[in-house]
Amino acid sequence: MAIEGLTVERRIDPPGIDAPHPRFAWRLVGSGPMARQSAYQLQVIDTDDPKATWSAPTWDTGRVENSDSTYVAYGGPPLVARHRYSWRVRTWGADGSESAWSGPGSFEMGLLSAGDWSARWIGHVVPDLVSEPEERSRQQPVPALRRRFSLSSVPRRARLHITALGLYEAYVNGTRVGEERLAPGWTDYHKRIQYQTYDVTPLLHIGDNVLAVRLGDGWYTGRVGSWGRHRYGDKPALLCQLDAQLGSDEPLTVASDDQWLACSGGTWLNDLQMGERTDLRNEHRGWSSIDFDDSGWDPVSLRAAPGSRLVSARDDGTRVVETLPAASVHAVGPDRLIVDLGANAAGVVRLRTAGAPGQHIVIRHAEALDANGELYTENLRGAEQQDEFILADTAAVSLEPQFTFHGFRYAEVSGLTAPLAADDIESRVLSSATRLVGAFSCSDPLVNTLQRNIVTSLRANFISIPTDCPQRNERLGWTADLQIFAPTALFNADVTNMVDKWLDDLVDTQLPSGAYADIAPAPSGWAGAGNTAWSDAGVIVPWVLYERSGDAGVLDRLYDSMRRYMAFLETDQTNGLRFGGRYGDWVSLGARTDKLFIGTAYLVYVFDIFARIAAVVGRTDDAQHAREFADRVRRALQRRFLDDRGRLTVDTQTAYAMALGFDLLPESTRLAAGSRLAELVHAAETHLATGFLGTPLVMPALSDNGQHELACQLMRQDTYPSWLFEVRQGATSIWERWNGWTPEQGFYSPRMNSFNHYAFGAVGDWMYRYLAGLNPVEPGYRRTELRPRPGGGFFFARATHESLYGTHACGWRIEDGILHVDVSVPPNTSATLVLPNEVRTEVPPGQHSFKAPYPPPWKPERR
Ligand code: BGC
Repeated sequence: MAIEGLTVERRIDPPGIDAPHPRFAWRLVGSGPMARQSAYQLQVIDTDDPKATWSAPTWDTGRVENSDSTYVAYGGPPLVARHRYSWRVRTWGADGSESAWSGPGSFEMGLLSAGDWSARWIGHVVPDLVSEPEERSRQQPVPALRRRFSLSSVPRRARLHITALGLYEAYVNGTRVGEERLAPGWTDYHKRIQYQTYDVTPLLHIGDNVLAVRLGDGWYTGRVGSWGRHRYGDKPALLCQLDAQLGSDEPLTVASDDQWLACSGGTWLNDLQMGERTDLRNEHRGWSSIDFDDSGWDPVSLRAAPGSRLVSARDDGTRVVETLPAASVHAVGPDRLIVDLGANAAGVVRLRTAGAPGQHIVIRHAEALDANGELYTENLRGAEQQDEFILADTAAVSLEPQFTFHGFRYAEVSGLTAPLAADDIESRVLSSATRLVGAFSCSDPLVNTLQRNIVTSLRANFISIPTDCPQRNERLGWTADLQIFAPTALFNADVTNMVDKWLDDLVDTQLPSGAYADIAPAPSGWAGAGNTAWSDAGVIVPWVLYERSGDAGVLDRLYDSMRRYMAFLETDQTNGLRFGGRYGDWVSLGARTDKLFIGTAYLVYVFDIFARIAAVVGRTDDAQHAREFADRVRRALQRRFLDDRGRLTVDTQTAYAMALGFDLLPESTRLAAGSRLAELVHAAETHLATGFLGTPLVMPALSDNGQHELACQLMRQDTYPSWLFEVRQGATSIWERWNGWTPEQGFYSPRMNSFNHYAFGAVGDWMYRYLAGLNPVEPGYRRTELRPRPGGGFFFARATHESLYGTHACGWRIEDGILHVDVSVPPNTSATLVLPNEVRTEVPPGQHSFKAPYPPPWKPERR
């Protein structure tokens, strides 16, 4: 057996981490029943310790009789800031066979405590460009800062540790450092600031060098939500430290301090919601390179340290993940062009053109066009989403803003003199969901488009934090949206580390009462907290993350905080009934589900989850208490909402889906509840009447309770309201509302009508687990259940997901009365195949195909 796929803290060779006990994972290569690990040996060497070698490693586990190949925590001597470590592992298989040592992986420690930072916070006091107070409050010229330094030898290793209050864009000798945008990302800057670490070794040379950084407003200084600017502070600031190991092994540090010089550049406005405005005539050409004359620049101002905790970023940040070519360009006026970029995404436009000095180019962005073919911008509310450039000369330029992003499919370009060809303009799609790890496809092309739209909205809304929408003046970390979408997100993209970090953002919002806010981060101006299904994300999301990633560490880390939340919940009910808070079954069409029911249902659900969490972290008393509390509330719910015939008095699809999904009913009434849910769906002529909370539950509730055929029909429904109705209207992303646009009514009210919300895309979890049948049943995919479930006329479906173990797949197709099933089971995991006739087969690691008559010769029993 060979070993590959080495990761540390779920990343390949991560630089600058600050976990004191990083967790290792590796993949075995092989197939068959013996492709399982029975023991491993792991070694780590500190490459900065000349005495450490593979024969005398820094840490050696020796042979450990254990099958774990993920989350194996470092247990050696304390790891040292800035040191680089190599590691390798070998394993023994189920048959005792020994693997060769893996190729070495590596990780590097970042700056671990305040004492590791010698840098000071610096900024530039920028003169006001305009006198009008209102204009002034909008404008903040981008400061550029630079520092020359000299090297006596070529460095062996050089790392830039960098962060900002605001956004940074760093250059070494004129070359942009890293690929991140919008770094250091959004946190509650008063509490926690992330820094990134980059390898800048190849960018340095003997002699004179320069480190140069531009600072943008971002979430720190710019607009957040609808509360305007200055949520955290009014001027951006920089903290950075270049730590180099010279050839002579002498250390050299170049840190932000009072030796830096600053100037304001040509960008006079930059804001995540408003856009970026740059006068290229005022740019200092070559400002980031060594031969630039900075003699006229100002000294920087030292800024007081914010006193927040500096933490190393755990994810890869936001990047350009895709470039979309223009699908069409057409003129709408003498000086205006409308460009269709093909899909509704989050990002910016890159435009190549040439013109004359002083020429003013304006690019506006929108998700849709109105009936006249003009940009539909009403739903952006206060977000201008407008970029402007004033050209400096006649040279060809490539224009692309750096400190903003827009939610758009269409761009309106005005002010060009040169003709615009389709390949002069493109959409640069931004996302923090940088790596896709799942795929779903099936026999219905419209459902495949839905899947594509789910991924598009996932990407568009994972921008530093999981947000509700990327376009209007909102873009907030709404907790319920993620709570319902997390399973789908984690199937499709490698966002474990990002969600893990966001959970710290959520904990940062926790009030003394124990309640979490309804959005995280919660900037000043925000007050809502403790609302059913929103605040509950504080317990639900960690559990989902644990189930999907296998990381019990997240439960340990957040346990005390979750426990405080549970104490809050115990007080947030009367006789076992909990008022459902502010939002209820958000944006549900038609049927309204009693909030008292929803609140109480979620109370049971969250206590049941917490009981499982407490059991995993070994707090058996808490687990028992939570179970008993959940049972009391369950009984209270039944007393209040179940009539003598075993029917719910809240007769909505959402209520039944919740009752079934959250296990609120006596076992004897489940089948009847499934039938009632089916009746309600039939009564709506096979349509949904559910909002954010009901929608993800309806499909599993049907499939699990004898109504899978109906669930499949709902999936394929393409009349209003349905998933495929949107697809048939040409949607390229998931809409916030079922009625975002209808042929009869046109656009819904612009007050709240985004075309890029992932919430209703939460059905993706059902598509993977139920339709294709790829179902993780033990944390981290250590065991999967592969359960093809044809229905609704689908004749083919397939899902794959890459976990830390490798690629899992379950695909099926029906051909000439035969069900063909193709599955893939990574080494060191187990899988059970369950055929539609309920016959169960254990499947060993490897790729396997099965066949069975279809429909099965006898009717499957209900589970
Ligand atoms: C957001 C939602 C959010 C809701 C809660 C909306 O404005 O877009 O996604 O969950 O508010 O009130």
